[in-house]
Amino acid sequence: MPTPRTIAIDGPAGAGKSTIGALVAERLGYLYLDTGAMYRAVALAALDRGIDPDDGAKLAELARSVRILIGPPTVRDGRAYTVLLDGRDVTWPIRAAGVDRVVSQVARVPAVRDAMVEQQRALATQGRVVMVGRDIGTIVLPHAERKIFLTASAAERARRREEELAARGEARTRQQLLHEILRRDQLDRERAVAPLKAAQDAVVVQTDGLSVQEALDRVLAVITRPNAPRS
Ligand code: CDP
Repeated sequence: MPTPRTIAIDGPAGAGKSTIGALVAERLGYLYLDTGAMYRAVALAALDRGIDPDDGAKLAELARSVRILIGPPTVRDGRAYTVLLDGRDVTWPIRAAGVDRVVSQVARVPAVRDAMVEQQRALATQGRVVMVGRDIGTIVLPHAERKIFLTASAAERARRREEELAARGEARTRQQLLHEILRRDQLDRERAVAPLKAAQDAVVVQTDGLSVQEALDRVLAVITRPNAPRS
């Protein structure tokens, strides 16, 4: 059986989707698209312009007018890809604490999602893509040939986020990160449009206690095995 051409990886904040998704794409030679980076770029644009994260109409207009491009890394500084917002390199600014705080409010606006999903689907049309997010298997690519829901306990996810930030020289306490992750999970799970949930035909991969390599091996095993069981 050939390797699936469209791979959807969804899951909550800090489950390792971005890391694993990038590695899977590299291994298979596929295009990698981290859709969270797109919502983060819209959130950053809103912060820059002083738009209230609860102002759906302004956010919708913003999402339709900004130009977000995600492509191969242009700087060798540990990034997995480069994000351009209207031509400006925002790869690191979209990871700032201020963006973490508002991104889920921005991402729950239906018109913001419509604008992003349209671009995401366009990028997937030629296949050979690993797309990572919250609603890829359910909404963006419901016909993806393989769907994975990557998850871990909130405590483990907060611990990983703390390590990731520390490696970049940013100190935020684990308690703060846990609080923020739980708040974002709640907003993402309870929103009316495209809530975070595993697609019916996704394979759930629990990554508590697994190293990146072990999690990658499990995900690759799911991708390459002949028939993913329906859950
Ligand atoms: O990296 P992390 O898991 O913290 O988050 P992310 O994947 O960068 O996504 C940031 C936020 O964007 C999420 O908390 C969601 O609110 C939103 N998002 C979404 O709504 N749909 C997606 N397909 C991807 C992200």
